[in-house]
Amino acid sequence: MKKKIALIFGVTGQDGFYLSELLLKKKYKVHGVKRRSSSVPTKRIDKYLNNKNFFIHYGDITDTSSIQNLINKINPTEIYNLAAQSHVGVSFLTPLYTANVNALGVLSILEAIKNTNNKIRFYQAGTSEMFGKTIDKSQNENTNFNPQSPYGTAKVFAHQITKNYRDAYNIFATNGILFNHESPMRGENFVTKKIISSLVKISLGLQKKLILGNLYAKRDWGHAKDYVEAIYKILQKNKPGDYVISTGKEYTIKEFVNMTAKMLKLKIVWKGKGLKEIAVNKENGKTLISVSKIYYRPLEVDFLKGDSSKAKKELKWQSKIKIKELINEMINYELKNLI
Ligand code: NAP
Ligand code: GDD
Repeated sequence: MKKKIALIFGVTGQDGFYLSELLLKKKYKVHGVKRRSSSVPTKRIDKYLNNKNFFIHYGDITDTSSIQNLINKINPTEIYNLAAQSHVGVSFLTPLYTANVNALGVLSILEAIKNTNNKIRFYQAGTSEMFGKTIDKSQNENTNFNPQSPYGTAKVFAHQITKNYRDAYNIFATNGILFNHESPMRGENFVTKKIISSLVKISLGLQKKLILGNLYAKRDWGHAKDYVEAIYKILQKNKPGDYVISTGKEYTIKEFVNMTAKMLKLKIVWKGKGLKEIAVNKENGKTLISVSKIYYRPLEVDFLKGDSSKAKKELKWQSKIKIKELINEMINYELKNLI
């Protein structure tokens, strides 16, 4: 049988790392797109660079010509669009840029598929941030979108235009609606990675303090390795569709801190309220965690909890890795890199 060919935009990110691993195991030829950068952008995917089925190309989803040229050259069976300005907080500081990448970039890929080969299967990396401020206690494919950031708003455009190209041009265009997923490969400025890497250093005496923003937002955190399996399955269905991918469990940021501290045997006690809230070391009274306004967002998504019943039924997918296993793996990765 002819090898399937995947083209991954966003291959250098967290999900790009796990998706490449999965597709290479499934004997795909994997083509990834990296952006030009002043430092080496392929740190995460270094280990694939010598694989004879892994190819890397320069490109950028805001550059229509580069997308078109890559699709012409590679003629992929499947395109996975993981590329995005993926930080919600940063999207308030770079709203036009975020819209250009996260919304128009997606339209450029869809146009290139339409003009080249409308048999190419397409996955768009949608997000629970599209639900934003919701009244539904848990969110599924029928929950209304009410995004609270330039990031979420741009992703709603991407979601809708993907559906539009599916319906108008009969393209196998699919949307994942993925809830937060983390791993040792997570970017440094997302809250889970920041908490774990700081508390590990604090527990070893290498850092004095961790400063966070809103401790009371709730998130549904899964493992990226589980979630790329769902992404793959979405593209293997007979019909294109949209799927919520989540664990169905939610925790506050403070609960995540407490779980991590406990695993590190760091005894902390919380005191105060609002911007004055702190966590002190129970043994010596020193402040280990405090709160600063700089990490608050102009608008917050207070809670997110997914309902993945459709994915369970149609994709036979379920999140496997539990939150404590995830934290444990992330802690061990940090420790290994410090020693
Ligand atoms: P990530 O680690 O931030 O990776 C984003 C990737 O997009 C990186 O490879 C980045 O390249 C690339 N990129 C950014 N702008 C680009 C552009 N203009 N052209 C081409 N590539 C560009 O994000 P992730 O956690 O892997 O997430 C993957 C996708 O899923 C994103 O679209 C994100 O919005 C979405 N998503 C993530 C989650 C989550 O919890 N992780 C949940 C729902 C949806 P550089 O390495 O050069 O920066
Ligand atoms: N980043 C960050 N840094 N967030 C903090 C901090 C901090 O110091 N302190 C508190 N938070 C809170 C944020 O306000 C938010 O409520 C929550 O922690 C999670 O923030 P992030 O880890 O930055 O993730 P996110 O939920 O905003 O976005 C992630 O998940 C989305 C899916 O729901 C990203 O991966 C998005 O790309 C993804 O779409």
